[in-house]
Amino acid sequence: MNYQFSTRVPKTNEDPVGNILKVAGSSDVISFAGGLPAPELFPVEALKKVTNEVYDQEGRSALQYSIAAGYPKLREQIVARMAQSGINTTVDNVMISTGSQQSIDLTAKMFINPGDTVIVEQPTYLCALDVFRSYGANLVGVEMDDDGMKMMALETALQAHPNTKFIYTIPSFQNPTGRTMSVARRQKVIELAEKYDVIILEDDPYGAIRFAGTAVAPIKHFDQSGRVIYMSTFSKILAPGMRLGWIVADTALIKKFTLMKQSADVHSDNLTQHIVARFMAEYDIDAHIQKIQSVYGQRERVMVAAMAEHFPASVHYSRPEGGLFIWVEIPGNIDTQALFETCIAHNVAFVPGDPFYPNAATPGTFRLNYSTMAEDQIKIGIERLGTAIKETMANAVKV
Ligand SMILES: Cc1ncc(COP(=O)(O)O)c(C=O)c1O
Repeated sequence: MNYQFSTRVPKTNEDPVGNILKVAGSSDVISFAGGLPAPELFPVEALKKVTNEVYDQEGRSALQYSIAAGYPKLREQIVARMAQSGINTTVDNVMISTGSQQSIDLTAKMFINPGDTVIVEQPTYLCALDVFRSYGANLVGVEMDDDGMKMMALETALQAHPNTKFIYTIPSFQNPTGRTMSVARRQKVIELAEKYDVIILEDDPYGAIRFAGTAVAPIKHFDQSGRVIYMSTFSKILAPGMRLGWIVADTALIKKFTLMKQSADVHSDNLTQHIVARFMAEYDIDAHIQKIQSVYGQRERVMVAAMAEHFPASVHYSRPEGGLFIWVEIPGNIDTQALFETCIAHNVAFVPGDPFYPNAATPGTFRLNYSTMAEDQIKIGIERLGTAIKETMANAVKV
């Protein structure tokens, strides 16, 4: 049958990242390609205990339909957590979502008409790019440096694209670069959004996982006029399989989000919302997050030390102060796909940079993940990667 798909459906069935993860998943390969939280840190026993309590004490309400905005108690707890990170808000400004991926999708659905411009960091989270593309967005990438999006380039993009609907940014420990936007730029991005009358979509799944440096307030902290839509998630601080996230935004926007959420999935899993609320009431989630910070921080330091030992001095890499990723940039016109194949021959894998770019990719770039790997595996894997990089660079020079 010749199916007449809508324009939102991708034209091809190709899944380049899925293919990479498949190759990287072979048992001989040390893979830095994934982006998963460490499963050994999931608080399984505590979640089991509170789940039983939810069934015993509030089973009938937790298993019932509920309101689209989300379980009020959980929203109150989120308001308290947000205050800790510098966002003063109210329950009416919070909506629970089925993970940040849904928050991104609902925001795109709410604002993007085909042809509207969305400005993104370059590179950025590839599944957000897929969402924006599906709504027909014109994607404009803004270059970054170690302090995040470059503000002059952002202003040039805003001037060149008066039909910009929003700026999408992951200001803390960005996926894929691990970079954090400086405080000065957080203030500047608000100033530019005011000047050009656009919205900011602040995607913050990693902000709580800081293991070095000093805390930086979210962009939302500096928002005076309700133009920042802030989103975060329990995926990286608790467990991604629970599929729970939240949006903090102006009440006028939350009303629209709630209507759209109703059409999308009625509400996020009510049982899981009760479980997470009870977990946070009975356990110290900050102590749990500190454990995550300490394990990821140690793995990141081991990876960076191994990179300093085994990578050629000309290779640049980010030094994340939190989150899950390091971004590597090899100078010269290195073919990232050829490097990937050499790496697979050496039984080590990463995600090539290409899919993270809204348009043309910078060659010789790739993402490394350190959250799921034991320290000895990190050391061996980075040594293999160093060998593959040296081989590829030597071959590139010969050509
Ligand atoms: C930048 C970014 N945004 C959103 C998400 C989606 O998170 P969730 O599991 O809450 O849907 C991810 C997941 O890795 C991410 O890296």
